[in-house]
Amino acid sequence: MSVQQSLIELPLDLDRQRIPSHVAVIMDGNGRWAKSRGFPRIIGHQKGVDALKDLLRCCDDWGVKILTAYAFSTENWGRPAHEVEFLMTLFERVLRRELEEMMAENVKIRFIGDLKALPDSLQSEIAHAMGKTSQNKGIQFNIATNYGSRQEIIHACQSIASLVKEEKIQLDDINEELLENYLYTGGIANPDLLIRTSGEMRLSNFLLWQMAYGEIYVTQTLWPDFNRQEFHRALLDYQKRDRRFGKLN
Ligand code: FPP
Repeated sequence: MSVQQSLIELPLDLDRQRIPSHVAVIMDGNGRWAKSRGFPRIIGHQKGVDALKDLLRCCDDWGVKILTAYAFSTENWGRPAHEVEFLMTLFERVLRRELEEMMAENVKIRFIGDLKALPDSLQSEIAHAMGKTSQNKGIQFNIATNYGSRQEIIHACQSIASLVKEEKIQLDDINEELLENYLYTGGIANPDLLIRTSGEMRLSNFLLWQMAYGEIYVTQTLWPDFNRQEFHRALLDYQKRDRRFGKLN
């Protein structure tokens, strides 16, 4: 039995009662992974899809209810055109290829971000995947695509401002709960744990509001090498944390 296979069950040193409900990931280091092997960067992204698929399965196996992955940021448009094009095609191809399996595994897919700016064919594939999996009751898989937290907050403010302007709500009705409802993540609980690979210690405009009290775990491992052992390590670290949410114990 391979080490990967032996980690299908929840490892015994993890507390089943303290598995984070919602895990978010910044999948960084694909380019460096490829470059260090003499491959073009896009090979790193391709490998990154395999790592993400395995993490989704692992989350499902170990009792995580929601996985949110940062696939493409509002800033990523600034990459060379051929890389952006490759990523858009990759998202579309992966969605088409994996949809049946996701259905079989009861995964509920949701894309978060400003989807209107994505290529039309990708938008149709996204709408199809979200529609088809909308009644699934298994793990929720959120893919942040053309996502930027600042843009998300501005978008929410604009929606709320028009409600005030149309006198549908009063200024005093604006509170945290209302604002959260107008974020792309409306209706989804905030992440308990955010994992960032490849050593960078920043949020990079990802889930800024939602991560107010989320725990952050950074590993030096590059995303294509992130596997169940790495996730196990992240969860062990998470379970040692004392989450006080600004209060005293
Ligand atoms: C960051 O690594 C990675 C990305 C910008 C793309 C991540 C996308 C995937 C793994 C594909 C996911 C697919 C679906 C369908 C959700 P980087 O390129 O910034 O790496 P570097 O820092 O080493 O240059």
